Amino acid sequence: MNEIIEKIKDEFQKEAQAIKHWKDLEAFRVKFLGRKGLVSAAFERIGEIPKEQRPLFGKALNELKKELENEYQKLLETFKGQAEKTHRLDLTLPGRKPFAGGRHPLLKVADEIKDIFRSLGFSIEDGPEIENDFYNFEALNIPKTHPARDMQDTLYITDDILLRTHTSPVQIRVMKRQKPPIQMIAPGRVYRRDTPDASHSPFFHQVEGLVVDKGISFADLKGVIQAFAHRMFGSDIKVRFRPSFFPFTEPSAEYDFSCVFCKGKGCRVCKNTGWMEISGAGMVHPNVFKAAGVDPDVYTGYAFGMGIDRIAMIKYAIDDIRIFFENDIRFLNQF
Ligand code: PHE
Repeated sequence: MNEIIEKIKDEFQKEAQAIKHWKDLEAFRVKFLGRKGLVSAAFERIGEIPKEQRPLFGKALNELKKELENEYQKLLETFKGQAEKTHRLDLTLPGRKPFAGGRHPLLKVADEIKDIFRSLGFSIEDGPEIENDFYNFEALNIPKTHPARDMQDTLYITDDILLRTHTSPVQIRVMKRQKPPIQMIAPGRVYRRDTPDASHSPFFHQVEGLVVDKGISFADLKGVIQAFAHRMFGSDIKVRFRPSFFPFTEPSAEYDFSCVFCKGKGCRVCKNTGWMEISGAGMVHPNVFKAAGVDPDVYTGYAFGMGIDRIAMIKYAIDDIRIFFENDIRFLNQF
């Protein structure tokens, strides 16, 4: 029994003296004091010796264990300086890269849109996301019973207060506080009661455009949308207007850009039509002017909408709107 203990001690001493580097300490500790180390193994052999000697052997082993643990602590102390020095001076370690944040792709696209319109002489306006019925509907020529209210499934807070379903209420707010000439855009978030899928989200982003002055015509609207399309997607992009209906514009249109992927030839993205729907536009309805305190006999104007998410999806060839709002770092890192 003493032989076993002496043997372990001898081996421990010899190996301890041979250690030159702090990196060898851990393997050394595991060999002797680890869960499957030599000391543990000796404990397991307790069954091999006569019963009456077992208590003594156990005691001796416990003492051995304590002794070796102490010696190991001393060894650790001896090498502590070496370990610290190497850690501090290891100039070969690669540096830690700081995590760099970035702008969300929707913000980048919104910035680009703002820059384009700013350079065309537009001001940038803002309005609340929590609106009341008057600004979101009534003043935009959408009375309570109007079927057009069904076009936009609204998230109501009370009977009168709601989450704006479009950025058009900003038109009213600006006309109420500013005399024409007005030439503004209003980017922002809007909300609709929609079930999310690849092309729907309960919130998304629009840019409203409004120009009011004497003698403004539909041709001005077409020119501005065309200029925007060229600046945003390149001078080979074509724009087309299709007759449509909005209560707050008359006449109304929806406008499309020729597909940026196939250049109008027809592909999977544009469903072989060669065109991509962007949004609606039209000449400001006289009732809207009246509600906002602008004289429709003196002034004319045009308004347009624009989907920021939609433009970003086209620009970056993204086929699912939901990915903008999931904050998946692998997606966001690409911008
Ligand atoms: N507000 C309309 C929408 O959300 C878009 C639009 C804006 C249409 C301005 C005409 C004029 O669909």
